[in-house]
Amino acid sequence: MTKKQHDQSYVDAFRHAAENPEGFWANAAQAIEWFSEPRLTYDEDKGWFSDGILNTCHNCLDRHVLAGRGDAVALTYDSPAAGAFRSFTYSQLLDDTGRVAAMLASLGVSKGDRVVIFMPMVPETAFAMLACARLGAIHSVVFGGFAAPELAKRIDDAKPKVILTASCGIEGARVIAYKPLVDEAVELSLLGVEHVVLLQRERLAADLGHERDIDWQELRNRTASDAMPACVPLASWEPLYILYTSGTTGIPKGVVRDNGGHAVALSWSMENIYGIGADDAFWAASDVGWVVGHSYIVYGPLLVGGTTVLFEGKPVGTPDAGTFWRTITRNKVKTFFTAPTAIRAIRKEDPQARFLKEIGTGDCRVIFLAGERADPATIDWLERESGLPVIDHWWQTELGWPAIASCFAMGDLRRKPGSAGLAVPGYKFAILRDDGNAVDEGESGNVVIRRPLPPGAFRTLWNNEADFAKNFASFPGYYETGDSGHRDKSGYLYIMGRTDDIINVAGHRLSTGQIEEIIAGLADVNECAVVGAKDPVKGMAPVAFITAQSGAADKGAIAGLAISAVRAELGAVAALKTAYVVDQLPKTRSGKILRNLLRKIVDREPFSVPPTIDDPAIPKAIAAQLDEH
Ligand code: COA
Ligand code: AMP
Repeated sequence: MTKKQHDQSYVDAFRHAAENPEGFWANAAQAIEWFSEPRLTYDEDKGWFSDGILNTCHNCLDRHVLAGRGDAVALTYDSPAAGAFRSFTYSQLLDDTGRVAAMLASLGVSKGDRVVIFMPMVPETAFAMLACARLGAIHSVVFGGFAAPELAKRIDDAKPKVILTASCGIEGARVIAYKPLVDEAVELSLLGVEHVVLLQRERLAADLGHERDIDWQELRNRTASDAMPACVPLASWEPLYILYTSGTTGIPKGVVRDNGGHAVALSWSMENIYGIGADDAFWAASDVGWVVGHSYIVYGPLLVGGTTVLFEGKPVGTPDAGTFWRTITRNKVKTFFTAPTAIRAIRKEDPQARFLKEIGTGDCRVIFLAGERADPATIDWLERESGLPVIDHWWQTELGWPAIASCFAMGDLRRKPGSAGLAVPGYKFAILRDDGNAVDEGESGNVVIRRPLPPGAFRTLWNNEADFAKNFASFPGYYETGDSGHRDKSGYLYIMGRTDDIINVAGHRLSTGQIEEIIAGLADVNECAVVGAKDPVKGMAPVAFITAQSGAADKGAIAGLAISAVRAELGAVAALKTAYVVDQLPKTRSGKILRNLLRKIVDREPFSVPPTIDDPAIPKAIAAQLDEH
């Protein structure tokens, strides 16, 4: 694959995509190798390139090997957590992926079957995802920080034929056993799961005591090395994966990603936003359990023939705050992507950026941040200390790739502090009031995107067409992002928060409603409200306010119970560390809990008591209680 020169400026590309989306995306689709080229670019029913036939694994692996690039490095597993470093060429990655595809096929997995992947950041996780793509099976990767009941919900919804897992994850200094969690989830699940295939890791051996348990290595050994299944031809609209994300209830939303639109959009973004092509190393310091990991650890870099870095570690503590800079230089990373929270964690440990000064950033030309709002102070610090442009950009699981950014690779480095950037070509944003009318310039409102959404964006939710439709119901003709923000007169978009109960903790998306449901279910709890309080490293942290049932045994113990229940039900990822048992919650006379007021109290911001409040003494009483803590 040859590297393309950028023949379009951002402005030209934006205009082209706005005026002639079908022409724009038909051009972009040429970057993909189709088994049968699409004649239709867009149709309302089946989305982008609906009559095109392709296979995503073929585009990520086989095509590069067939083009003679089998010896180029495809993936580097860099694990300061496990003390491991291993590179895989495209030929090797194809062999390993083919082997896992053969393993899955031997268990009866074929096109359309679901496979749940509950695995840490090891190369086998990428093999597994690509193997599913090869077979046309639909993977559903579940983040390791979720507890068994959350995994069980995903199992029940996706109904997998096989679960792929490992004996443990390595979280900084701790080793987290995965097998007991998987066993508990399978017991909790309403379904019987036929097969659990487990990869034993050196750090911890798991007991394979159930009939459904299969040892990964044994299964691999039983599978002939020349039994690699061919890539299954798939229609563009057929699902590649399901990825569950927080909705506003306790039921996670299963975002369904298609094959064709996804491959086209990711290839376009690698080249035009991140500036990555064949032989370039790209590193997204995220986890494969999140959309960033799907798009930019596994699929994006491989689609364009680049080298992806699969990093197992934390920004600090594995072993120190220099690990990011070491990983960038060691792997000759050209474009680096992380979350602001990771940079804040590094700055907290190394405010003078001693590691950064000592190690440098090697070949890196640019740093992208996403996952939560990048505060200008974090960007300033990183730009000053690294000497690199730092670009905030915005997107969501639903969209699959960036929607607001500075398109660095098109030579567009314009950015403004506090703004996530300009609309990416293909996206048409509007800021609307609740009544659907456009806001005045600079005024805040609902951030929405004109339909049809560009390639790559979700076209349904797994088993849940009704909830999918809700995303388009409030503002006819638009997708409601759930974010609030404004746009300035030059077109820069500023994302300021959510319009629903979702909060963002260390770049992880959580529903406060879901946390409230767990706490409210406890015996001694009467009512509960959870808000996202400011946190200097994680951006936000959940804080619970609880009222106890009258006659509850020990009010003091309730807070502790709530914290452990959330950890047990939702998982460590919820990071609920603070809960207050208060006498009463502030409410309006109609009984609505004033969560925004609670947020201001916990953030120690000045607050005024709204006239609709039922009892004006309550906010002051809560503020006084917090001051005593
Ligand atoms: N498996 C098991 N447990 C996990 C886990 C995983 N894959 N990921 C996180 N956890 C656990 C953590 O160990 C922690 O447990 P604890 O409460 O027992 O300490 C808990 O979940 C919360 O994790 P986290 O919010 O990540 O906090 P942390 O203190 O471990 O690390 C940061 C803080 C900022 C260093 C870390 O959150 C980070 O690197 N964030 C970057 C986020 C990111 O890349 N997001 C993706 C979007 S781009
Ligand atoms: P997720 O689906 O987990 O990627 O979370 C998406 C949500 O994270 C968005 O709807 C925003 O609320 C938030 N988010 C992601 N990136 C940014 C950003 N650059 N600026 C502000 N908020 C962001």
